[in-house]
Amino acid sequence: MKFLTYKNSKKLDSLFVEDVPILDISDAVGTPFYCYSRKNLVENFQNFSDAFLQAGISEFKICYAIKANFNIHLVKILAELGSGIDAVSAGEIFRAIKAGVSPKKIVFAGVGKTREEISYALESGVEEFSVESVPEMFLLSEVAVSLKKKAKFSLRVNPNVDAKTHDKISTGRKGDKFGVDIELAEEIYAKASKLPGLEVYGIAMHIGSQITTIDPFVAAFKKLRELCLTLRKNGHKISALDFGGGIGILYKNENTLLIQDYVDLIKEITTDLKVKITIAPGRAIVGSAGILVSKILFLKETAVRNFAIIDAAMNDLMRPGLYGSYHEILPVIKKSGAKYSFDLAGPVCESTDVLAQNRELIDPKSDDLLAFISAGAYGSSMSNEYNCRPLIPEVLVDGNNFRVIRRRPSFEEMLHLEND
Ligand SMILES: Cc1ncc(COP(=O)(O)O)c(C=O)c1O
Repeated sequence: MKFLTYKNSKKLDSLFVEDVPILDISDAVGTPFYCYSRKNLVENFQNFSDAFLQAGISEFKICYAIKANFNIHLVKILAELGSGIDAVSAGEIFRAIKAGVSPKKIVFAGVGKTREEISYALESGVEEFSVESVPEMFLLSEVAVSLKKKAKFSLRVNPNVDAKTHDKISTGRKGDKFGVDIELAEEIYAKASKLPGLEVYGIAMHIGSQITTIDPFVAAFKKLRELCLTLRKNGHKISALDFGGGIGILYKNENTLLIQDYVDLIKEITTDLKVKITIAPGRAIVGSAGILVSKILFLKETAVRNFAIIDAAMNDLMRPGLYGSYHEILPVIKKSGAKYSFDLAGPVCESTDVLAQNRELIDPKSDDLLAFISAGAYGSSMSNEYNCRPLIPEVLVDGNNFRVIRRRPSFEEMLHLEND
């Protein structure tokens, strides 16, 4: 997080988000909590739009992949900046529209859209669909006809490119569940063009997440270009290309790719194609803008390792348990002294509930606060109430102000959906 710095406060070396001491937030809302920097979020979005302008591309749409973090207050900020939305469920479409995003700027992606979701999207004014299978294509046409609408059809193709990222977040290899084998695309577009509810509109692709080198994008985007030319030769009007998201961020010491290089690549691929360009970044917009703050409850030594038991758990931040992901950890108050190695484990009754391993902590004590860095994406959005743990608060910092943008529910509120 760019706006995360140590400053001297009350004679302590204290971690601030923008101009707010994290201690002030924890005093107000308790731990654990997510905290976002407005400035960082805005800057991340603008890095993309600036890169397009720098590349001389004027027809582009940044459709924030709302799955990365769906807090409506963050989405509202992005909507005000002109963001569109990549949505993968009716619930995400609902939120995006509530946040002020025009349905015309929403792309409905996702591998398993239901009839009800497709109807909901069309009735809400969503026009663009990224279709992931032949049966879905027929269903989309059928629903559109029944509603006297035409859906803009893009096929999400699977280019069989290894994104060289974590196995569990790779989506563009043969055998991944996403998209349709690119080799079948000609045949499918021929069918799509005959369906009464569809307007053949574009081609879509998304090869994975947390991609840190340009090569997989080069390989995949070249295939997208080739397909665009082939389909046009076959008589289809391909007006738009959706390059998906996947741009990686810094978690540890990765060599991340430059957004400008990524956008320049898109420019190179599309330079003579006269197409509208869509990208759908999620992680690269919100990831570095958020941290998770947690408190040490107890220190516990075992024969083979030391545990710091903290009050955040795998239900609050699933990434380490799901993917073995790494988040850097900073003490909220800097200390000096001896360093000890610890595993940071949460209170959930699963051995998977270890948020970090072998981390050096300086003279840790109960009640010390720790900040997990780059936790803005796929953090709160994947969280759940396992072990009847309430969802944790989310706080937005703007300059020297902060406000709670999602509060912690009471136990009573957690029961509401189950009441008779
Ligand atoms: C279709 C689609 N687009 C965009 C994204 C966003 O990816 P990222 O957050 O890595 O940018 C995803 C993530 O899974 C996706 O499935």
